[in-house]
Amino acid sequence: FPIKKPAQMAWTFAGLFGHYDKAQLQRGLKVYTEVCSACHSMNLVSFRTLKGLGYSDAQVKAFAANYEVQDGPNAEGEMYTRKALPSDHFPSPFPNPEAAAAANNGAAPPDMSLLAKARGIERGFPTFVFDIFTQYQEGGPDYIHALLTGYENPPAGVEVAPGTHYNPYFANAAALAMAKPLNDGQVTYDDGAPATLDQYSRDVAAFLMWAAEPHLEERKRTGFMVMIFLVIFTGLIFLTKRAVYAAKE
Ligand code: HEM
Repeated sequence: FPIKKPAQMAWTFAGLFGHYDKAQLQRGLKVYTEVCSACHSMNLVSFRTLKGLGYSDAQVKAFAANYEVQDGPNAEGEMYTRKALPSDHFPSPFPNPEAAAAANNGAAPPDMSLLAKARGIERGFPTFVFDIFTQYQEGGPDYIHALLTGYENPPAGVEVAPGTHYNPYFANAAALAMAKPLNDGQVTYDDGAPATLDQYSRDVAAFLMWAAEPHLEERKRTGFMVMIFLVIFTGLIFLTKRAVYAAKE
């Protein structure tokens, strides 16, 4: 199988001053809840963190209440289900990995909490050296977008294993157990963004980047301040050195 390289996309969260587009993250959450969450868990993300997408406390509470979670044991020692609270995490669609694999031709859908950071792109020399300066860290979202938009018919003469679907961007084998999950018009947006496969894929990839790294903006801001501090500090140290080791008259 020929494996294709994902195209490098323009993300708002790229670069030194990267920031998330909250409207995009909200659309991505909609795609995740309406489509991906049927198979993929997101165990490490709690509902209350959705405030980072610009939702109010009341909105988060109402969103969480759409879900049921297991709790217990109660005073009688029994487990029970109840409505989710903002402090709960997204519940899994399957009770355990075995059930998830059994429902998907033996391949369990990976948990999505860190997927955008866990999948990357092989950049190769010398590109990865420049990545240090351009701050390229968007291999995960690039890959997710490419994978979702990259389903096609296998080239002539190529047979994929039963239960798998040809996708030249799939990093493992160019055929994976996930059927094409998104199509044009599948999710209704209420902010006027185009209801296209490409837009859905961008939005859900951006959302997954946020899920994996909710403090990205803070990290970049801090990093920038540290660099400014280091430049000033270097100057001060240099002047100090000159004063201390100044030649005696
Ligand atoms: C794998 C994304 C919906 C079932 C994956 C992978 C990604 C992904 C990025 C990992 C590929 C890799 O390992 O490199 C998404 C997104 C979805 C979505 C963004 C929603 C838009 C679904 C749905 C199902 C599903 C609805 C089930 C009907 C699977 C399975 C795998 C997988 C079984 C494992 C494939 C394998 O390893 O062969 N998905 N997915 N996904 N997904 Fe999805």
